[in-house]
Order: sequence, then C-alpha cells, then structure tokens
Amino acid sequence: MNKNIVCIGAGYIGGPTMAVIAKMNPDRKVIVVDINHERIAAWNSKNFRLPIYEPGLVEVVKEVRGRNLFFSTDIDAAIAECDIIFVGVNTPTKMFGRGKGRASDLQYWEATARNIRKVAKGAKIVVEKSTLPVRTAAAMEAILNCDQTKRFTVLSNPEFLAEGTAINDLLRPDRVLIGGPDGDEGRAAVGEVVSIYRGARGDWVPEERILTTNVWSAELTKLAANAMLAQRVSSINAIAGLCEATGADVDEVARVIGADRRIGPKFLKAGPGFGGSCFKKDVLNLVYLCESFGLHTAAEYWAQVIRMNDHQQERIVSRLFKAMFNTLANKKIALFGYAFKANTGDTRETPAGSVARMLHEERVRLVITDPQALANAKKDLCDLSGTVQRGDGSVAFIADPYRAAKEADAVLVMTDWDEYRRLDWAKIYRSMRKPALVFDTRNCLDSGMLRDIGFNVLNIGK
Ligand code: UDX
Ligand code: ADP
Repeated sequence: MNKNIVCIGAGYIGGPTMAVIAKMNPDRKVIVVDINHERIAAWNSKNFRLPIYEPGLVEVVKEVRGRNLFFSTDIDAAIAECDIIFVGVNTPTKMFGRGKGRASDLQYWEATARNIRKVAKGAKIVVEKSTLPVRTAAAMEAILNCDQTKRFTVLSNPEFLAEGTAINDLLRPDRVLIGGPDGDEGRAAVGEVVSIYRGARGDWVPEERILTTNVWSAELTKLAANAMLAQRVSSINAIAGLCEATGADVDEVARVIGADRRIGPKFLKAGPGFGGSCFKKDVLNLVYLCESFGLHTAAEYWAQVIRMNDHQQERIVSRLFKAMFNTLANKKIALFGYAFKANTGDTRETPAGSVARMLHEERVRLVITDPQALANAKKDLCDLSGTVQRGDGSVAFIADPYRAAKEADAVLVMTDWDEYRRLDWAKIYRSMRKPALVFDTRNCLDSGMLRDIGFNVLNIGK
C-alpha cells in the first residue's frame, strides 16, 4: 500500500509542492499542517482565497482539495497517521547571537524534530524540504533517533521551484534531488520518495531527472545552486553599471553573452537586484559555512554577491536623485510594483523595499502600487506610515496604477508585471507633474514610445 504523506509547514514551498504531489498521486493521502490557523483557514477557504498567489495553483487545489489533499492545524494527529513526513517550516536568518545576520535560525525546525519524535508511532521517513545549512540532517537524525530505537530515516529533498512559475516547475522539473544515507534502510527510503515523484501512473518526473546523492551533497547543492544563480544576477548588474558609464547597452551585452551555449541565456537580466526568500539567505548561509571551516577567501567571495546586490539598489536611488535635480524632498514618486518579481505577491527581501526606505529617508511622498503584493507591502512598511506627521515623507498604497501616478513627478518601475506594458502611458503622462520621469529598473517598457510621449526615461545598464 502506498504510504501517506504529511507536510509540516503550509507556506510558499509546502502548499504548492504538496498540491502537485497530491495531484500526481491520487492514491495517496496528503495532509499539509501548520501552526498558523489563519493560513490553514485560507487554504481551506470555500472561495479558494488561498494565502499565496501563484499562477495555476487555484486550479490544482480545486482538483485535489478534499479528494486526497487536506489542510489542518492538528499537527500531531497528521504525524501519527502518515509514514512520510516532509518538513517545510521556515528557517529565517538568525538575528541574534552566534552567526547573527548570516546563519539560519533553526529553533522552529528543531522544535519540529522534537515534536515528530514525541508523537510518531512506528517507523517514519523524514524529508527535509526547507533550505537548511549543510549537516542539518545529521542533527535531525540525532534528535529523532536518540532513544536507541532507530525508527527514523532522514532524507534531504530540496525544492528548486521558483515563485511565479511554481506549478510548471513542479510539474516539469529540470531535476528532483533526493539525498539519502548509505545502507539498505537509506536506499529503501530514497526509493519511497522516488516513487512519489514518479507519480501514481509513473508518468510524472522521468527517472533520469531524479538525481540521488548522499545527504550532505543534497543539502549543499541547494545552497550552491541558489548562490550561483544569485551570482549571475550580481555579475550582470555589475556590468550594467559599466554600461551606463560607457554607453554600452546591458541587454545587448547579455543577449550576446547568453548566445554562448556554455553560458546560456537565462538569469542574465539586469535589474534592481535579486529578492525573494532564498537567494540572500542561502548565500549568507554559504558565507557562514565557509567561515566556520576557515575558508575566509571563499566566504568573502560569496559575501560580495550580496554587497553587489545592495549596491544596485543604492545606485537606483542615486541616479533618481541626480535626474530629479538633486532633491527629492516632497516630490511624489509612484513605485510600480513591490513584489520581488512578477507573478507573485511575495515581498520577502524585495529590492522595492530597500528602495522605498531610502526614498522615505529623502522625505519623498511615496505611492506604492502592485497587482498582488499590496497587502504584504503595507505590512512590510507599516513602521513608515506612522512617521507621516513629522514631515518625514509619506507612504500610500493604491491598487490602481493610474491613480497612483496622478500628479507624481516620477514613476519608478520595480517589478516587471505584464500589465505595466499594456497601460495607457500617454494618459499617465498627462496626469503627472512635468517634467515627468519614468525610471524602468526592469527594462521592461518600450522606452522609445515613452520618450515619444514626452517622458524623460532612465533604464538600468543603458
Ligand atoms: C529561486 C530559485 O530560482 C529556485 O530554484 C529556488 O528554489 C528558490 O530561489 P525565486 O526566488 O522564487 O527562486 O525566483 P527567481 O526566479 O530565481 O528570482 C530571484 C530574484 O532574481 C528575483 O528578484 C528576480 O527578479 C531576480 N532575477 C532573476 C534578476 O534580477 N535577473 C534575472 O535574470 C533572473
Ligand atoms: P517557505 O517559503 O520556506 O515555504 P513560509 O514562511 O512561506 O516559508 O512557510 C513556512 C510555514 O511553516 C509557515 O506557514 C509557518 O507558520 C510554518 N511553521 C513554522 N514553524 C512551524 C512548526 N513548528 N509547525 C508547523 N508549522 C510551522
């Protein structure tokens, strides 16, 4: 009989991953649990107002919820009922003590391990889904199997989905990675998880795309893969600054670099810098790991990827400052897009956040608009809203981009939402104060068209 699955943590990873696992394995029961009652209520909501926005997710949840996918806050009952336990709880960067600002805060994760040991009956396979520092599985194993009756096998199955394309990434992944321990037990546990990803009919992930390694390789691969992607973004952004200084065009440079098959065209888009929950956290984790092992030069190398990313946002504000006659105080600037990338409502580590804070320091009257991320933007910037009375600038949140841009001095495009390309920019121009500026930090709009309308236009790397 096929084993039932529980996933602890109903977030951006746990929710979509389990929805697709349930879709492709109708013969297995899949339960997603979370300590956050509000989140579970949203996953269970009658009108499918799910807690996260992800294209195609609602359709999958409609198909499987109540059939073989269930959301619950009864964590202990679900652990007792299932044989395979995925752990997808959050591991934020530690903000205190040793490794502050770099290492992962593992307290939620360790609490989860202890709870699994307490309530689990019989042998279980425990699968790490959250990104964790290398050798976390060893710690989990030590906690789970400390009572001498070796009941738990710990595997690492890092998730590579990207937000905004999660459903497609899950249905057609480049690869699935499963790290397991040596020995018969380890091999059998890996086999169980492989069978999940093959799907009930054996037509989900092709065998050759399911890669198995030892546990440590799997854990490190996730950090290294994200660090290398982040490094590509920082590399092209470093070239962008040089393009602006010399008159080269970063999009042209990237197109030609990417035509080399050894390099490839993806992840060469210059912009406001990377955001999202993974890149910064994973690079910082790698820096911490390198330092812990005395690899200081390697640590500095990876730290520079983050430094370059921060610098990109500082550069955006400096260029805006210069283009707006070296004073931003009391000017109205509309931020178009607050999500860290298009097609998500997620604002974790979004470059728009640090730009918004820098502009607030300059006493700008800031208006933020975004088709999906406005609620998160309000939460992230709630500390700024209270400062309005002191004349420190202000921040407002408006869903309609036309209203957001009304009487603004500048529009700052921070997220490449498709709808921004389809806006009536002549209408926006007419409603703005002159001279009207568009700073397209994603190079996603037609600059020629904007210039013809009368806008001053700034781009990244041009
Ligand atoms: C990333 C990894 O891609 C994924 O494999 C991992 O599981 C989680 O982290 P995600 O953060 O969701 O996924 O989005 P991704 O598409 O990788 O983009 C990350 C950031 O880099 C975004 O802010 C995006 O705008 C930026 N980016 C990406 C660029 O600035 N230029 C590019 O060419 C590509
Ligand atoms: P990710 O992007 O890694 O999925 P999220 O923050 O979106 O991260 O989701 C992690 C989820 O894990 C949150 O919904 C949080 O409430 C949940 N969580 C954290 N600790 C526990 C725990 N001990 N038991 C159950 N759920 C937990």
